Amino acid sequence: MYKDKIEEIKNELKDLFNNINDKQTLENKKVEYMGKNGKITLLNGQIREVPNEEKKEFGMAVNEIRNMFNDGYTKTLEKIETKEINEKLNSEAIDVTLPGTKLPVGSAHPIERIIETLESLLMSMGYDVVEGPEVEKDLYNFELLNLPKGHPARDAQDTFYIKGEEYLLRSQTSPVQVREMLKHEGKDPIRIICPGKTYRRDEDDATHSHQFTQMEGLLVDKNITLGDLKGTFEAVAKKLFGESRETRFRPSYYPFTEPSVEMDISCFNCNGKGCNICKGTGWITVGGAGMVNPIVLKNCGYDPNKWNGFAFGFGIERLAMLKYGINDIRMFYVNHDIKTLEQFDRREY
Ligand code: DAH
Repeated sequence: MYKDKIEEIKNELKDLFNNINDKQTLENKKVEYMGKNGKITLLNGQIREVPNEEKKEFGMAVNEIRNMFNDGYTKTLEKIETKEINEKLNSEAIDVTLPGTKLPVGSAHPIERIIETLESLLMSMGYDVVEGPEVEKDLYNFELLNLPKGHPARDAQDTFYIKGEEYLLRSQTSPVQVREMLKHEGKDPIRIICPGKTYRRDEDDATHSHQFTQMEGLLVDKNITLGDLKGTFEAVAKKLFGESRETRFRPSYYPFTEPSVEMDISCFNCNGKGCNICKGTGWITVGGAGMVNPIVLKNCGYDPNKWNGFAFGFGIERLAMLKYGINDIRMFYVNHDIKTLEQFDRREY
């Protein structure tokens, strides 16, 4: 009797696993055959009813069936798991034709762009970039630059004083000239530029700010002429505003240069014909300059009988306003919509 049962289960097992494709069905089969009331478990329990001399044979037969089941079960489980992994791999495959994630590239602030442009040009002409402190001595900001106390030209550069009258927020980058000359003790030629923040006690409006940016230049050597200054300025003007710019000097006054000039470029908007940007004159003033005053050379330890040179100063905001058509200086210091900033792409100067 039990032999028939054994045969029956054996036959079932032959095809049992063929069509099983998921874990749930497989588990159900395990319960059906090997669970507490499973067919094989129950069959095993029947051993008590088997005559003694047949018990061994019976046991072997049940074992065979159990092995058959376990074998099929393991193989089927492996098959299902392989299939699942393959399906997952296929569904998660990377599509290389999809557009990539774009990493936003920051853009340089217009002030920074002007500074970098001037630095790269002037460095190629042999200038070193130096820095000076923003909290400066009155001595360097004014006194040694031939602006003694009570000098009327100080009025235009009223600034913020710190601890009495000895220290102030520098009103110009010109004190860096003094520092450089003192450092070299009247011995070496000098070629430096100094970009940096400057301060004045100004009411803020479209063209004034209590904090702004300048770039100072100083060249000290022998037999330097105004022509050298003109050539240098011309290179700067063309670099910033295009090859067709023309330049001119107008007489001016600064205590630290003699003679002093205003540096003008032909208007890039109307090419000199006259428009609202150049206020009808055809020319735009972009900085001050001159031959270093012998008094300043002497103050700073250079013998004016041996050495001479030129100095210049640019207002960086002014250059940026002209170059990028920005009409309010306050725009440089406030936060902007990203679209505004994106116009100043770092890759394209
Ligand atoms: N420091 C001057 C200013 O703030 C600008 C300037 C003019 C600088 C002439 C110079 C110079 O070095 O030679 O108005």
